[in-house]
Amino acid sequence: MKMIGLIGSLGSIWLVLAISAVVAQPSSSPSPVLDSEGRPLERGVEYYINPAITDNGGRFTLINRNDSCPFYVGQENVSGPEGFPVIFTPFAEEDTLIRENRDFRIAFSAFTICVQSNAWMVGETDPETERRLIVIRQDKSELSTRNYFRIVKAAVGGNIYEISWCPTDVCPTCKFNCGTAGGLVENGKRLLALDGSVLPVTFERNAA
Ligand SMILES: *[C@@H]1O[C@H](CO)[C@@H](O)[C@H](O)[C@H]1NC(C)=O
Ligand SMILES: *[C@@H]1O[C@H](CO)[C@@H](O)[C@H](O)[C@H]1NC(C)=O
Repeated sequence: MKMIGLIGSLGSIWLVLAISAVVAQPSSSPSPVLDSEGRPLERGVEYYINPAITDNGGRFTLINRNDSCPFYVGQENVSGPEGFPVIFTPFAEEDTLIRENRDFRIAFSAFTICVQSNAWMVGETDPETERRLIVIRQDKSELSTRNYFRIVKAAVGGNIYEISWCPTDVCPTCKFNCGTAGGLVENGKRLLALDGSVLPVTFERNAA
């Protein structure tokens, strides 16, 4: 009797596991990233990136770091209407939505005096902080892996995210020193860099 009871409960545990495996099946389409109003982020649409926490600078913008090209990715000093929107282009050509943990290119929708693309790229390591800065440049390597970023949901909940670099969709066999983006203040200018503090962000669709 005992034996049968045990088998019976093991059987139902197995059934529960089997059902949850079906429900939680790893999907080929991870959750879309949502903007601050809960709408999925779309390919080719302009979004402002805002810090999710106040007193962490303003919107994302182009930073002229030392009166020369290239520009860097950074933030306005204070929150307000200033800043440039960005456009996301997913690596997966069939993706029309921006999804969590999937690689995309990201570029400012702006004109600059620097004759080059407005694509974000993981740039050089700042010798003082040993953090990798995000610069505006085209990665000339074969796969351009340094031009691909991804969005990860922040643990705090809500439509709050982190921007990271770990382009394993672009190169599944590569080993990357992955990193997450945060603020780095240099001479009063707010730059974006990997390998340090993390800046949680929200996305605001450009209504203009
Ligand atoms: C701009 O600043 C960076 C970092 O300080 C430096 O490596 C680079 O040489 C500077 N460029 C010019 C043109 O001064
Ligand atoms: C923020 O303030 C610093 C120091 O005054 C200035 O150099 C920098 O250009 C400002 N940043 C922006 C995006 O205006």
